[in-house]
Amino acid sequence: MRKQIVAGNWKMNNDYVDSELLVSKLLEQHIHSQTEVIIAPPFTSLLCSSNSLKGSQITVAAQNMHFAENGAYTGEISAGMLKSIGVETVILGHSERRAYFNETDAILAKKVDSALRNSMRIIFCFGEELTDRKSGNEQAIVGSQIKNALFHLPASEWEHVVLAYEPVWAIGTGETASPEQAQDMHAFIRKTVENKYSSELADEVSILYGGSVKPANAKEIFSKADVDGGLIGGAALDVAQFRSIINAF
Ligand code: PGA
Repeated sequence: MRKQIVAGNWKMNNDYVDSELLVSKLLEQHIHSQTEVIIAPPFTSLLCSSNSLKGSQITVAAQNMHFAENGAYTGEISAGMLKSIGVETVILGHSERRAYFNETDAILAKKVDSALRNSMRIIFCFGEELTDRKSGNEQAIVGSQIKNALFHLPASEWEHVVLAYEPVWAIGTGETASPEQAQDMHAFIRKTVENKYSSELADEVSILYGGSVKPANAKEIFSKADVDGGLIGGAALDVAQFRSIINAF
């Protein structure tokens, strides 16, 4: 059975003090025990957050990492460094990384390999822009993003991969894909994975939806057959909203 996951991407929000506060409030919430909950604070808050969350059902993920193991890459963080502070999961390919930091499919494929070499789990993000959707190219774009960064992997590595479909036009805009649009794309994604690997493998991969998920729309989106959870941005910064999104399953 594939996992239900709700992950909160804090982006560049919350300093050390704010992070401790938000984590302590999260720990007071009553959350659905069948749902895996992940938060992705900024690098500077990963260690304090994971220490505070020990023994709870919530774990932490990094928002990014470099593909090299170490070396002259000023300002970067490697998979090994994340592992050394107990971080087991990393978000890769977020559209903001692609757009503002020029992360291409080729770079992302290298990051994927580095994460897996270091026994990390990946939440791999992808999604089309508004112009792609308007021109009817959304499936072609999404299909190529997945293929270019992930299809070199052997089937055995896929147990460490979670997919996150995030249409760029829905991120931080308040505009969400309709539950039907999300379901159609998630079914296409699962089929794409099935065609390359097998139906058993495709059936086991969790596919999250991201893009303006809020308490008001989470239940309907999560009720769709191929939607296995959400990657939450803005609403993950508010404890009450994040809790009700988790409990929307
Ligand atoms: P949003 O962000 O929920 O604020 O739209 C989602 C994301 O970027 O993962």
